[in-house]
Amino acid sequence: MSMHSTHEGGTSLVFPPGFLWGTATASYQIEGAVHEDERGTSIWDTFSHQPGAVWNGDNGDVGCDHYHRVNEDLDLLAELDVAAYRFSIAWPRVQPTGSGPANQKGLDFYRRLVDGLLARDIEPTVTLYHWDLPQPLEDKGGWWVRETAERYADYVDIVARALGSDVERWITLNEPWCSSWLGYGAGRHAPGIQDIGKAAAANHHLLLAHGLAVPILRSTISSAKVGITLNLGDYQPGSQHELDIAAAHRADGNLNRLFLEPVFHGQYPEDMLEHYRDSKPGFSVIRDGDLEIISQPLDFLGVNYYFPSTVVDVSRAKEARVAGYFVAPGEQFPDLRVRSLETPGRDKTAMDWEIEASGLTSLLIRIREEYTTLPIYITENGAAFDDYVDPNGDVKDHNRVAYLQEHISAVRDAIDAGVNVQGYFVWSLLDNFEWALGYSRRFGIVWVDFPSGARLKKASFAWYRDTIQSNSVEYATSVGSS
Ligand code: FCB
Repeated sequence: MSMHSTHEGGTSLVFPPGFLWGTATASYQIEGAVHEDERGTSIWDTFSHQPGAVWNGDNGDVGCDHYHRVNEDLDLLAELDVAAYRFSIAWPRVQPTGSGPANQKGLDFYRRLVDGLLARDIEPTVTLYHWDLPQPLEDKGGWWVRETAERYADYVDIVARALGSDVERWITLNEPWCSSWLGYGAGRHAPGIQDIGKAAAANHHLLLAHGLAVPILRSTISSAKVGITLNLGDYQPGSQHELDIAAAHRADGNLNRLFLEPVFHGQYPEDMLEHYRDSKPGFSVIRDGDLEIISQPLDFLGVNYYFPSTVVDVSRAKEARVAGYFVAPGEQFPDLRVRSLETPGRDKTAMDWEIEASGLTSLLIRIREEYTTLPIYITENGAAFDDYVDPNGDVKDHNRVAYLQEHISAVRDAIDAGVNVQGYFVWSLLDNFEWALGYSRRFGIVWVDFPSGARLKKASFAWYRDTIQSNSVEYATSVGSS
């Protein structure tokens, strides 16, 4: 979809004062030290060690060795001049088996990190769950059983008491769609289960966990600002045919509405409940009162955006081909009966994700119109490219700079359109373990030499620092040009 902006290319656009510039990481993707200081095993440790689960047999055993290089990484953040740093806490470091007393050594690590940020005048933004569920909880059913949400509430209580005096901004969950639908439905992420009924139940129990955490954070930390981070997308039908419009609506239901509607409207979308009616246990796990728990008032919404999607009904793949699209050969959720299309001529990242920044603007406007006027933080946005260290020892990632410039411009368009966006976090500070794709996809603005762990700032690092320091971006003409 094209957005029409009033900005000219080359115009320097200033952001509102206090706009929160940051960068983000996640525990399992960077920490390593998986056996240190009594850390327990997570589902990602188990999954990544299963043959064939992750590209090249990669795993997070060493990661970016952040656990040992934390001071070096803090210094990088200071040099970048970010106002905020979003990181996640590994539940198995805090509660090695997922229940019972806290492991003080695990908490101490995050205490050091928080103190190090505050000493550098950087605001810690904590994600309480970025996918590393303690394995013993998975052994009892994981997210498709209700008890996991209750255990999560206990864990949040421990962390809130330990860090609450110094952390104001809390994100309950990162991308519960990925935890539920990729983890229990498609089986592409840990724990690697392929069962749509379990995925739907996990969807509900993750949201329940979020809802249970909100009052715990509020009662322990009087100044707490609490939100949830969702990975949302902009789905467009490949044609105006009613079947394709319906297909885009189903895909949107699964990715966006199954999360936005319970959190902001206190209900699940009827069409999705109907769609998953025969998948057991599915949404039959919902109990009276759950939706009130899930839909309590928040302080902000975190949005992760990477790419837009164009889809058609599965029966219309041929028409889409005739219309010039490349049609994806298969789908990870056959029950949705949608086919993804590639728009000819559109650039892609190394993830094969299409680059279209105006999708972010339309998504943000839609959130404001249909769901909430709360402050929004872009808690992740960024791109993987085939970076390399050139003979001079530099990583000149101009394609990443262009991607970031376009997407930051798109955020500015949304602000102009009246959306209350208050911050932006680049994914990611470091090249890291990109889940099922291992170390093959580099998202960092800092290059990491695996496995030595040596860091090297890419060109995008200097560009982002300039953006932060000037609190402005040179408007990218390419936004909305498609
Ligand atoms: C998001 C994840 C993040 C990272 C990016 C590329 O889905 O939250 O950990 O892997 O994608």
